[in-house]
Amino acid sequence: MALSRYQRTRLAKVLNYEDARRLAKRTLPRGVFDYVDGGTEDEVTLRSNAESFQALRFRPRMGVWVPEPQLSTTLFGQSLSFPVLAAPCGGLKLIHPEADIGVARAAASAGTLHVASSASGFALEEIAESSPDRHWFQLYRFMGRPGMENLVNRAKAAGYKAIVVTVDTQVGSKRERNWRNGFSYSMRVNAANAVKLGPQLLPRPFWTARYVRDGMPFQLANTAAMSRDGVPMVLSEMAHKESNSPTWEDVAWVRQNFDGPVLVKGVLTAEDGRKAHQLGCDGVVVSNHGGRQLEGAPASIDVLPEIAAAVGDKMEVLVDGGVRRGGDALKALALGAKAVLIGRLYVWGLAIGGQDGVSHMLESLRAEMTCSMQLMGCPSIHDLDSTWLMRAGSALNP
Ligand SMILES: Cc1cc2nc3c(=O)[nH]c(=O)nc-3n(C[C@H](O)[C@H](O)[C@H](O)COP(=O)(O)O)c2cc1C
Repeated sequence: MALSRYQRTRLAKVLNYEDARRLAKRTLPRGVFDYVDGGTEDEVTLRSNAESFQALRFRPRMGVWVPEPQLSTTLFGQSLSFPVLAAPCGGLKLIHPEADIGVARAAASAGTLHVASSASGFALEEIAESSPDRHWFQLYRFMGRPGMENLVNRAKAAGYKAIVVTVDTQVGSKRERNWRNGFSYSMRVNAANAVKLGPQLLPRPFWTARYVRDGMPFQLANTAAMSRDGVPMVLSEMAHKESNSPTWEDVAWVRQNFDGPVLVKGVLTAEDGRKAHQLGCDGVVVSNHGGRQLEGAPASIDVLPEIAAAVGDKMEVLVDGGVRRGGDALKALALGAKAVLIGRLYVWGLAIGGQDGVSHMLESLRAEMTCSMQLMGCPSIHDLDSTWLMRAGSALNP
């Protein structure tokens, strides 16, 4: 979808996360903006993700000229132009009609990967077709074990390179902004909802017209193949009698039934990292779901060193949560991550410019990483280790 001249000019002025967030706030209805922006309860974990990055400082090596810092890496034999992946984010059709396909294309053209969410608005087969060879699949346990097996078998058939099993979403958490806004994933714009949604939708006529035309109501496209009538389900139809997240027994099943790499997302302790390794998994994503699940969980970057020390020599350790700047990504690599995932950073880009907006945010992160590496005197991301970091106000390494 080509951007208008106005949209292009607007996007060019977006220099960072806060610019993008501000514009997204002006673009989306309040309930949709808060669905992305918010976290659980008091949002302490959400805030601590970013604050813990800010509490780290670089120990640069001066007098070194690095003309072209090396950012490229490989993950399970696949080359990445830089170590930043697009995290799985459900509900993206609420944000922009290009949704998961726009994100997948932007990630592929940046030379990196997108992890397609089980809760996508496009079927996993459509997403795979949009970016051949550059996609991983994130797994939930929709509709119990049979639903999970259905997703794994289809991901295999569609050629997904890796499966990322999210284990931190046993139940929906208490996201109070959603409650206050009366937010529903399957929001319908109609006469019955006019009183409830009118105050949020009237100030956003452009978004509302587009949603009614292209996206309404948001449905879990992947569930069509599991439902009795072949119609995709809306989230409220999903029973909560069983965990929405795979358990370790399910992870073992996935490991036995998928030939490619299997990663466990939502690991916050060395114990769980070891457990994933014992079950034959190939990687972990250190994550608290962007502060959207267990309130009181630690900041991801704070527990990364413990997990990297326990399993970093045996499996790939990735991390997400609070990456807002190129420097944050470098800090994560210095503490033992092979790559980082970004969530809200690209979702804001999607809100303001669809696929082009996602590309803009990815390229801006890459430019910041390059500049920081040059100012640090660090030739390659593979040279990064904890000697490049210190805690703010302390001479000690983290
Ligand atoms: C709007 C939104 C939807 C998300 N949906 C999913 C999902 O379907 N599956 C999943 O494993 N994680 C999901 N996450 C969590 C992200 O994958 C990632 O862990 C988190 O966004 C990282 O934090 P950040 O947003 O601070 O970068 C979602 C996050 C957001 C913001």
